[in-house]
Amino acid sequence: MTETLDRPRVLVTRRIPEVGLELLRAVAYVDVWDRPVPPPRDELLRRVAGVAGLLSLLTDRVDDELLDAAGPGLRVVSNLAVGYDNIDVAACARRGVAVGNTPGVLTEATADLAFALLLATARRLPESAALVTEDRWLTWDPLLLLGRDVSGATLGIVGFGRIGREVARRARGFGMRILAHSRRRAPDDVYRETGAEPVDLGTLLAESEFVSIHVNLSVDTWHLIGAEAIARMRPGAILINTSRGPVVDQTALAEALRTGHLFAAGLDVTDPEPMRADDPLLSLPNCLVVPHIGSATQRTRDRMAEKAARNLIAGIRGEPLPDPVPTPGP
Ligand code: DGY
Repeated sequence: MTETLDRPRVLVTRRIPEVGLELLRAVAYVDVWDRPVPPPRDELLRRVAGVAGLLSLLTDRVDDELLDAAGPGLRVVSNLAVGYDNIDVAACARRGVAVGNTPGVLTEATADLAFALLLATARRLPESAALVTEDRWLTWDPLLLLGRDVSGATLGIVGFGRIGREVARRARGFGMRILAHSRRRAPDDVYRETGAEPVDLGTLLAESEFVSIHVNLSVDTWHLIGAEAIARMRPGAILINTSRGPVVDQTALAEALRTGHLFAAGLDVTDPEPMRADDPLLSLPNCLVVPHIGSATQRTRDRMAEKAARNLIAGIRGEPLPDPVPTPGP
């Protein structure tokens, strides 16, 4: 690999929208892992050696081992995502490596996808489409594929940050009653503007016909929606997850979908990713799984790439990042 004397070297761990690469190429020698799947771990460790900046994806684990492999010249890790549970931020902080993410630009796209899953599961779109494509559509039938009403139903939003609030705005348009739970209460005007009522998690689970998850993955939220939480959910409720797969215990979810305690689930995220086709959840007609496409629109991905590039450039220059992730306390 060519080293240039006048430009820092950076590693980009996948093909990203050109707008981001162009910004980077103007200031750095850019090594792009140009394959459709993540670099194998040993390849990643090899290629990261000596770089000044790493543009990582949520599929790359950034930990002490990787930071050791990168060496002391690494100044910044810029994640092409708003979530950064793949990064050991404390380990980066100990070494003075800045960490950035891409908040704000994917809020609407992710909220749209959460709502798309909510509507698709409520109105049984995957089963309905299969009936047609498999030539099983016999006639108009008063009892065919009856779903759940969205209008006027109660939606519980777990995690009331940017994306959760954006989901609430969409729900308002559907005349839904909105309950919101978050670790830290949002300012009062957020509840006024979105029409959401702040409630504890138990109340939210017990009263909501739809529950949509919008929390970060952390030790506190791993399996937050496990057997116990699912048992507290209203019978016939629908669960939507566009956050991170491990927030939901999929074994408990599969059981609740099988017994009919839950009407349906719509998942954009799974544990692990990718979910394999023989996963028990995929044999259930009331479970809709899509492959982590919350932010997958052209405009959103362009904006994410641009943000990630700007974080990386600031970091290799030793300047404050436009979007730094918070450093954990001691
Ligand atoms: C994120 O940004 O964290 C999403 O999961 C991918 O867009």
